[in-house]
Amino acid sequence: MRIGIPRESKSGETLVAATAATAGQLQKLGYDVVVESGAGEAADQPDSAFTDAEVTVGTAEDVWSSDIVVKVNAPTDEELARVRPGTTLISLMAPMRSPELVEALVASGVTALAMDAVPRISRAQSMDVLSSMANVAGYRAVIEGAHAFGRQFTGQVTAAGKVPPAKVFVVGAGVAGLAALGAAGSMGAVVRAFDVRPEVAEQVESMGAQFVTVDMESEVSSDGYAKEMTAEQEAATAVMYDEEARNADIVITTALIPGRPAPKLITAETIAGMRTGSVIIDMAAANGGNTELTRTDQVITTQNGVTIIGYTDLAGRLPAQTSQLYGTNIVNLLKLMTPEKDGQLVLDLDDVIVRGITVATGGESMWPPPAVQVSAAPKVEAAAAVEPKEPKPQLTARAKTALVLGAIALFGLINAAAPTDELRTHFTVLMLSIVIGYYVIGKVAHALHTPLMSVTNAISGVVVVGALLQVNSDETKIQVLATIAILLASINIFGGFAVTRRMLGMFNKGA
Ligand SMILES: NC(=O)c1ccc[n+]([C@@H]2O[C@H](COP(=O)([O-])OP(=O)(O)OC[C@H]3O[C@@H](n4cnc5c(N)ncnc54)[C@H](O)[C@@H]3O)[C@@H](O)[C@H]2O)c1
Repeated sequence: MRIGIPRESKSGETLVAATAATAGQLQKLGYDVVVESGAGEAADQPDSAFTDAEVTVGTAEDVWSSDIVVKVNAPTDEELARVRPGTTLISLMAPMRSPELVEALVASGVTALAMDAVPRISRAQSMDVLSSMANVAGYRAVIEGAHAFGRQFTGQVTAAGKVPPAKVFVVGAGVAGLAALGAAGSMGAVVRAFDVRPEVAEQVESMGAQFVTVDMESEVSSDGYAKEMTAEQEAATAVMYDEEARNADIVITTALIPGRPAPKLITAETIAGMRTGSVIIDMAAANGGNTELTRTDQVITTQNGVTIIGYTDLAGRLPAQTSQLYGTNIVNLLKLMTPEKDGQLVLDLDDVIVRGITVATGGESMWPPPAVQVSAAPKVEAAAAVEPKEPKPQLTARAKTALVLGAIALFGLINAAAPTDELRTHFTVLMLSIVIGYYVIGKVAHALHTPLMSVTNAISGVVVVGALLQVNSDETKIQVLATIAILLASINIFGGFAVTRRMLGMFNKGA
């Protein structure tokens, strides 16, 4: 089958649905790829980059007559008129908010796959274009904010005096919010963040920012998305938003509930109380904005000197990387849909990801898809509906004392019965190691278990040295035990190195 990558028709669009690298990967799946001449220019992907990667560069006709057309933005009416029935069209489509587009897609007889409808499940993460774009956009929001702020983020003590760090407040700690708070923190700002989903507090704190808490009832989300706030929650958060925004130099808002207009969280009154020179970057501008004064795709400065940035193309302002990520998401989707790697697309509607993104096929509407039970966090069942759980049996103080005394007695007996002093000493050391190890390792936080593994590598090293000294023994029993010890300790050492290396790779900036 042939995949066509058209030049985006949306005015000012910088993105392209495939880079030379990802087009090459699509060819490895058995497809022929044709890219419209000039499609990748704004994303640093000139025609020559594609031809160098042995990808065909062709005309718009070549692209639109392909079996599969992959683009970034939803197709326009003119574009839909160019495709023949049976073509598979893959792009962002926002089907939840675009009933007319869904109708047009059905009428055209194409198989329409919406990349922005990928369900938020672990298996689909590598295809989640919204996350890819929000991640880049969150970073870019900080850059735009820093530029408009006109002062440095990091605090400094210099001979000429002290410079305080910038204070950044992030609203909504989803993908964009986390990327933004990470970027702002790495530039030296003091970052605070709030989200209605309490489960993100740990993620916010693990990135060095402070999670702002509000005294209100909140629910752990079952699908990674927030629900609309109740009147009580709105009242409880309004005061906090006002205080935090007035106290901040930069406010980055990302609050979103899918399929709804963006909640208005920062009022005109709050903005009027913010300091001159402070900046708001409203990432929810495309959905109406999180502030009362945001203007979509515009930068405005209020009378009191607060700049409000309402760009909706933040990801497109870093076009090379965003196109690469978008293209990789497409490759991952087509890997799933090309099980034989033979260039033949298979529409398996039993697969929840494929079903979730299929908007139309064969002239029939497939939208909306059945709900997918995703598990960002286990859903907390309504208290009334749940049987009260039996409390875990706890040992009473008396039972604990009896257990300890029993263990000491057993230890004494084994020691007394030991035939040699040497065995007695070894046995005592073993018992003490078990007790100390149990308490030391039991107290290490889960987050530190991987570094702990590096320490156990060192211990395994000692075990290997000991076993090597014994492996030449005359007794077969000792030889066998020493060999097993070398084997097990080696697994721990090499496995530990492999995992540690992978973990460090995650922090490697590719330098
Ligand atoms: N401007 C751009 O160029 C650009 C680019 C990409 C994404 N976006 C936008 O950025 C926003 C965030 O995208 P995302 O992928 O991170 O979405 P997301 O769903 O991962 O994150 C949104 C977060 O907002 C939180 N939230 C919802 N209502 C809230 C409230 N009232 N108070 C506090 N938090 C609340 C949610 O719990 C969630 O964590 C969206 O509006 C998206 O459209 C903008």
